[in-house]
Amino acid sequence: MSKGIGIIGTGSFLPEKTLKNCDLEKIVDTSDEWITARTGIKARRVLEEGKATSDIAIEASKKALEDANLDTSDVDLIIVATMTGDTITPSTACVVQDKLGCNNAAAFDISAACSGFIYGLSMAYGLISSGVYKNILLIGAEAMSRILDWEDRSTCILFGDGAGAAVLSEVPEGYGILGMELGSDGSGKDHLLIPAGGSKNPSTHETLENREQYLRMEGSEVFKFAVRKIEETCKNLLEETGLEASDIDLFIPHQANTRIINSAGKKLKIPKEKTFINLDKYGNMSAASIPVALDEALKEGKIEDGDNILLVGFGGGLTWGSSILKWYGK
Ligand code: ACO
Repeated sequence: MSKGIGIIGTGSFLPEKTLKNCDLEKIVDTSDEWITARTGIKARRVLEEGKATSDIAIEASKKALEDANLDTSDVDLIIVATMTGDTITPSTACVVQDKLGCNNAAAFDISAACSGFIYGLSMAYGLISSGVYKNILLIGAEAMSRILDWEDRSTCILFGDGAGAAVLSEVPEGYGILGMELGSDGSGKDHLLIPAGGSKNPSTHETLENREQYLRMEGSEVFKFAVRKIEETCKNLLEETGLEASDIDLFIPHQANTRIINSAGKKLKIPKEKTFINLDKYGNMSAASIPVALDEALKEGKIEDGDNILLVGFGGGLTWGSSILKWYGK
């Protein structure tokens, strides 16, 4: 990675409405004790009715552009990583482009579930380093509450709504993305899916009655996959970049489950004090988890100029991805 391509601004937005575990006890047969012990989640945010993923994506983007000191006209490309787009078509990125007034920007969505933001980082790296674009607005935004089956206690307790955004551009040499790895294993596609509403199984009265418009997950399969893949991809990346685990100043994994994060941290020999966790407040926000966590870590002063940040995502597809950035503190 010769050219310096990195993040020059971040922003995030969380809907106001908070659903605590005790609120969920009134909706499904569960308990605060079970959710806390099995997942580490205490609360999650829920997008108000009448709003869509693009609305929170835009709020996060405004903050990221301000942080980057750029105007909307400076943006060459908008990428939205999401599995809960406003509509199947057009892309949510196009809605963001229009509402933000980014008149010079191309726009598209990425479908890589919880790995979407990491996939987006790689796209942005490639397009900037090849000279195609200068400034790319990358957003991870989700309204997971819209695709959850609120009668299924094994999934509805896990997810939350939110958006995080980052602006990518050239940074001084030596800074920015030091390495990345992406992967997929479609043989695990059924472990996390929405069965109906696509071309394979369009929505009918019957699919709606069977609640096939909602997210289904084989939790223990995804759990095993996540623990295995986080270790594998992070070790590959450390080797590729010539870094040791002890060189990592902050580890920001996808925020799905504290048991997954703790197990990965142990295997990678990254101590808890260097691991960022905010899933207790927000649950799993899929593609939004990593950019929201990154923005919060920055605001909390946990990242300084020159720090090595390890990001890792995993999720539906199955997909995974990791990236190491040397932080450019401007
Ligand atoms: N409250 C109380 N009991 C529950 C609940 C609940 N909310 N949900 C399940 N249970 C019960 C089950 O019915 C089961 O009962 P049984 O033993 O009588 O059958 C028992 O608890 C254990 O269930 P498991 O599913 O085995 O529980 P597990 O320890 O695996 O935890 C969990 C489940 C939290 C979902 C875990 O598997 C997990 O975190 N998986 C990974 C999810 C993930 O990382 N997703 C990321 C990708 S998401 C994306 O890409 C969008």
